[in-house]
Amino acid sequence: MLAARSLTGALRSSAKGLYTVTLIPGDGIGPEISDSVKRIYQAAEVPIAWEEVSVAPILKDGKTAIPDDAIKSIRTNTVALKGPLATPIGKGHVSLNLTLRRTFNLYANVRPCVSVKGYKTPYDDVDTVLIRENTEGEYSGIEHEIVDGVVQSIKLITWDASERVARYAFNYARDHSRNRVTAVHKANIMKLSDGMFLTACRHVAKEFPDVKYDEDNLDRVCLNITTNPKPYSDRVMVMPNLYGDILSDMCAGLIGGLGLTPSGNIGKDASIFEAVHGSAPDIAGKGLANPTALLLSSMMMLRHMNLYEHAAKIEKAALGTIAEGKTITGDLGGKASTTQFTDAIISKLTSA
Ligand SMILES: NC(=O)c1ccc[n+]([C@@H]2O[C@H](COP(=O)([O-])OP(=O)(O)OC[C@H]3O[C@@H](n4cnc5c(N)ncnc54)[C@H](O)[C@@H]3O)[C@@H](O)[C@H]2O)c1
Repeated sequence: MLAARSLTGALRSSAKGLYTVTLIPGDGIGPEISDSVKRIYQAAEVPIAWEEVSVAPILKDGKTAIPDDAIKSIRTNTVALKGPLATPIGKGHVSLNLTLRRTFNLYANVRPCVSVKGYKTPYDDVDTVLIRENTEGEYSGIEHEIVDGVVQSIKLITWDASERVARYAFNYARDHSRNRVTAVHKANIMKLSDGMFLTACRHVAKEFPDVKYDEDNLDRVCLNITTNPKPYSDRVMVMPNLYGDILSDMCAGLIGGLGLTPSGNIGKDASIFEAVHGSAPDIAGKGLANPTALLLSSMMMLRHMNLYEHAAKIEKAALGTIAEGKTITGDLGGKASTTQFTDAIISKLTSA
């Protein structure tokens, strides 16, 4: 019997003893980088059967919705790997990313950023973990026009969501030997909303006397991390939605860009793992995309499923290929195509 266990519940395993995981290839470069992950998993003999679904929006009762098949698959499998989904700007359907987060109540978005050994960037000691509240804040989607020329976007902060993400951050810190949680905020300006977020964090901190807790302003954290990221390797940062979105891209820039940064959306009933980057329409279909961020997201997924050995093996091959620098994609300063880069990882895996 397979020993892996999901943190979100029982995993579905097939008759062949494979764990069934939902795969959403996504838009733009999504299908190319998903294909790369599938090939690497096959070469590494990871015990996973992919259940591929499309989340191309459908109209349901006049509203944009995710197809029922996709929802059923994620609900049943409880774990999914997702490629990027494009969102029209200023018009069209609502963000499917937001819809997925709301549908499955994916309340915590975990975004680690770690320097790749051997790949030269201005800093070689970045090791940050950021946990972003994922369901509300500035992304509540509540917007309206008051009168012509005056609009409002509501930043919604609730005690329950703040407390839930704070508790996740403290547990994550404890489980990953990071002995400190820093809440990142602008409570000096948004006294009520960020103020309540901080109160919820302080309340949860009392349950974790072994984990240090402090607070810092978003602007100061940005300045400090870009000046010297090293001190941030001792902690987990937790923050409202928008701050996490922006700060994680900033950290990604410090380690070599969006092609390298993974993330996991954690919920009670399901978890969805995805790269931090978007669908990169400028390079889609050209064979130029770097699949590392999706691959590293899938490593987070494997560890979430307790498949540690497979994760370590693939991670070593992928990061080793980047460190060698011979067969890397254009965003990392190389000339290799997505396929050549994937082949190089596979040959490292199979020769190990
Ligand atoms: N989680 C998601 O699905 C998600 C996240 C962010 C943006 N988006 C959507 O993606 C679309 C495009 O957004 P954008 O252009 O602002 O951001 P983007 O992340 O798609 O691209 C930004 C830049 O980074 C490059 N890039 C991104 N990923 C790369 C990779 N794997 N390899 C090499 N280069 C890579 C792109 O070529 C582009 O120059 C939008 O519709 C946006 O809403 C989706």
